Amino acid sequence: MRKSTLFAIVFSAGIFSTLVEQATAEKLPIVLWHGMGDTCCFPFSLGGVRKFLESEIGVYVKSIKIGNSIAEDFKSGYLVHPNQQVEKVCSDLSSDPKLSNGFNGIGFSQGGQFMRALVQRCSDLRMNNLITLGGQHQGVFGLPNCPSLSSRTCDRFRQLLNYAAYTELMQNFLVQATYWHDPLNEAKYKNSSTFLADINNELSINDTYIDNLQRLNKFVMVRFNKDSIVQPLESQWFGYYIPGQDRETQNLKESEIFIEDRLGLKKMDEQNRIVFLECEGNHLQFTKEWFRESLFPYLK
Ligand SMILES: *[C@@H]1O[C@H](CO)[C@@H](O)[C@H](O)[C@H]1NC(C)=O
Ligand SMILES: *[C@@H]1O[C@H](CO)[C@@H](O)[C@H](O)[C@H]1NC(C)=O
Repeated sequence: MRKSTLFAIVFSAGIFSTLVEQATAEKLPIVLWHGMGDTCCFPFSLGGVRKFLESEIGVYVKSIKIGNSIAEDFKSGYLVHPNQQVEKVCSDLSSDPKLSNGFNGIGFSQGGQFMRALVQRCSDLRMNNLITLGGQHQGVFGLPNCPSLSSRTCDRFRQLLNYAAYTELMQNFLVQATYWHDPLNEAKYKNSSTFLADINNELSINDTYIDNLQRLNKFVMVRFNKDSIVQPLESQWFGYYIPGQDRETQNLKESEIFIEDRLGLKKMDEQNRIVFLECEGNHLQFTKEWFRESLFPYLK
């Protein structure tokens, strides 16, 4: 074979593989996980987001539903333990062939920390980017407003959490107790939280959590600057109250989890794989324009 022919073959093979790469580098499907007081499919909420993403990005969008009906799905946000939810979603998504080549995940409010737990615990899934909107990665201490609940029910809720969040009963019964984080009593929180302290590797270190989280491409956290539901606001960016009091906060990089690198976040940050975004407005209040500009770059 003449040299020039060989060159031509190698050269065109190069072009061919580039073309193939472009054709197969299709946009990934998207999975949504709703928050408390919401469901998979309300048209004014995640049902609408789903339609918006389907039409503008043109991919398969799955909105997670817990249980067999919208009513069960709604209740699950309060009453089905996150560990159970994550396990169920892990098995559902693992058996969806449309997701087998990977997907991007978007968690809304508490769905944010549940989606992160899914990444950490469900080794079979291939999540590319994780986006959390108004998530509570370090939990909450206070519940100023409860979406979709009457103010009387919300008051009851708050009282229960204040007095009994760390009892076994509440940890088993009320979802919000599992990420109730009392900064005045860190030891008790670490010891008693049956969900958040575990996924944050606060009591002991589970290396699988670290390894699985490292498989993400980007971890994007969105904070709503005028949020009246998440207290403190910094939890949306993985910050929290400085231990021992409940007024001053510290950011992720000042926290024990980061400094001791208990979850691999320090390493991710060094590789520029943690993204902090902000949105003006109250909890989950965003415009389509904001969503396009800020989040579409992570959904392609
Ligand atoms: C660590 O997490 C994995 C995934 O959830 C789990 O299978 C394993 O049992 C955990 N290990 C410990 C020591 O808890
Ligand atoms: C932690 O839990 C153990 C076992 O349930 C208990 O004996 C211990 O007193 C708890 N410590 C704190 C600080 O709550």
